[in-house]
Amino acid sequence: MTGSEIRIGRVVSVTGSQVVALLEKPQETSGPSRVASLQMGQLIKMLTPSATVFGMVTGMSIPLPSPNDEDSEMKIIELEMLGESSLKRGSPFKRGVSAYPGLGDPVYQTTLEDLRQVYARPAVSTVRIGTIHQDHSIPAYVAIDDLLGKHFAVLGTTGSGKSCAVTLILQSILSKHENGHIVLLDPHNEYSQAFGESAQVLSPSNLRLPYWLLNFEEILEVLLETGADTPDSQHAAEISVLSELIPAAKRKYMGQDEESKFVTVDTPVPYQIGDLVGLIDEAMGRLDNPENSVPYIRIKSRLNTLRMDSRFAFMFGGLTVRDNMTEILSRIFRIPVAGKPITIMDLSGVPSEILNVVVSVLCRMTFDFALWSDRAVPVTLICEEAHRYAPRDTRLGFEPTKKALARIAKEGRKYGVSLGMVTQRPSELAPGILSQCNTIFALRMSNQNDQEFVRSTLSESAVGLLDFLPSLRNGEAIGVGEGVSIPMRLAFDRIPDERRPMSGTASFSSAWKAEADSPEFLEEVVKRWRFQRK
Ligand SMILES: Nc1ncnc2c1ncn2[C@@H]1O[C@H](COP(=O)(O)OP(=O)(O)O)[C@@H](O)[C@H]1O
Ligand SMILES: [Mg+2]
Repeated sequence: MTGSEIRIGRVVSVTGSQVVALLEKPQETSGPSRVASLQMGQLIKMLTPSATVFGMVTGMSIPLPSPNDEDSEMKIIELEMLGESSLKRGSPFKRGVSAYPGLGDPVYQTTLEDLRQVYARPAVSTVRIGTIHQDHSIPAYVAIDDLLGKHFAVLGTTGSGKSCAVTLILQSILSKHENGHIVLLDPHNEYSQAFGESAQVLSPSNLRLPYWLLNFEEILEVLLETGADTPDSQHAAEISVLSELIPAAKRKYMGQDEESKFVTVDTPVPYQIGDLVGLIDEAMGRLDNPENSVPYIRIKSRLNTLRMDSRFAFMFGGLTVRDNMTEILSRIFRIPVAGKPITIMDLSGVPSEILNVVVSVLCRMTFDFALWSDRAVPVTLICEEAHRYAPRDTRLGFEPTKKALARIAKEGRKYGVSLGMVTQRPSELAPGILSQCNTIFALRMSNQNDQEFVRSTLSESAVGLLDFLPSLRNGEAIGVGEGVSIPMRLAFDRIPDERRPMSGTASFSSAWKAEADSPEFLEEVVKRWRFQRK
């Protein structure tokens, strides 16, 4: 410690990870402006006999304000302890505190040197994503393996900058790791313009996801009529028919193949809808009592409807069946990468009735692919607007999707598959997923429930930082968890316009200035509306 350190006060209370310090009157030499310039979120240090402990200012007060004499007032600051560095020269900053400050220990302002030491680039593989709030000359880094390997979440109100943050993080990582494998579920088609040439954009118009890739639960989701007035007994009969006949149709397609013995109702091997219908007819013919044929007829009629419905063409269309599973995997997971390390699944054109199934197949295939590829190709699945297809409310459906996501959240680390959850309503997300996210970027958030929820998923030492959530600016965040060196308030770097995701908010002011819409425009709209294709 050198003589130029500026002492500002002393410790008067220590509880858990929180410290309260009483500010002292500025010494003549340091001038009055020093204490006045103390800011929320600033890093402060305390000197204990064995270490320098760093804490962030999370509260400031004058408990007994005096109407006329400012000088005699007591000024108090609250601090959240974040980490320490031992007093040995050159020893690095470490998270967590082993030597707590005692009562009366002196409190100092931090110098630029201190900040550089605390926010130093970690020794592992990192990329820069922004700057530290307290001093914008100091960069903020994320550790790639900890961020991607152990799941992360980006949370915040609409317009707070989540999509930009995700874009920035992914672009920074991919700029140094051009052979990445990222699958991004994009409900609003925001991202294709941000990633340009480095993204493969898939949508129902250019990706076929044949029905035979669906597992049993998913095919039931498509084939059974769901509704409040459908009795369970009807479902039970249909389920039992399908569980017998789908494997039979698969075996029929495989012929005498030895492997056909291993086929189950969930095995992703092709089968012909025609064969399934043939088997249904045969089984119906064998019935003693024609009254029992209702479930068979229902399945047949549903299959027919699906084959005629153009919205389902990407799943049930095409006359011939062929085993192109490797092709499909190669396109979705970018193997080989061929200069496009990110797949953007544009879900904006997927009709809401089948969004559930599409998302569920993608999430489950991601997990299964990781499982069977034996960690050879780590994949990150980014779920933008995750509350839409992983809702907490069980009445909203999406059960297979939630199951697939929860499985990645719980077991993905072992198999090299990870999640990036992006949502504006963390409290409405299916439980158990967010708590597995080891790095969280919380942007501005005003909803009390959501704040409480985020608070409950965080470790004790970062909780004080969340008090900043309602007052953060666009593009600012509290970053906590394993992917960042310490809990920090940061500002994400600005992304140039042409690499930004498309903004979710329509601009009335610019659209209402000019008459741009021709009659053809309306015809185009009607066409898209009728054929449900964007
Ligand atoms: N890092 C950033 N770089 C550039 N612009 C940003 C950044 N963060 C936020 N913005 C601005 O904020 C707006 C909303 O950001 P967006 O990411 O779409 O928010 P969200 O996804 O949370 O709704 C963007 O259109 C952009 O103008
Ligand atoms: Mg967004």
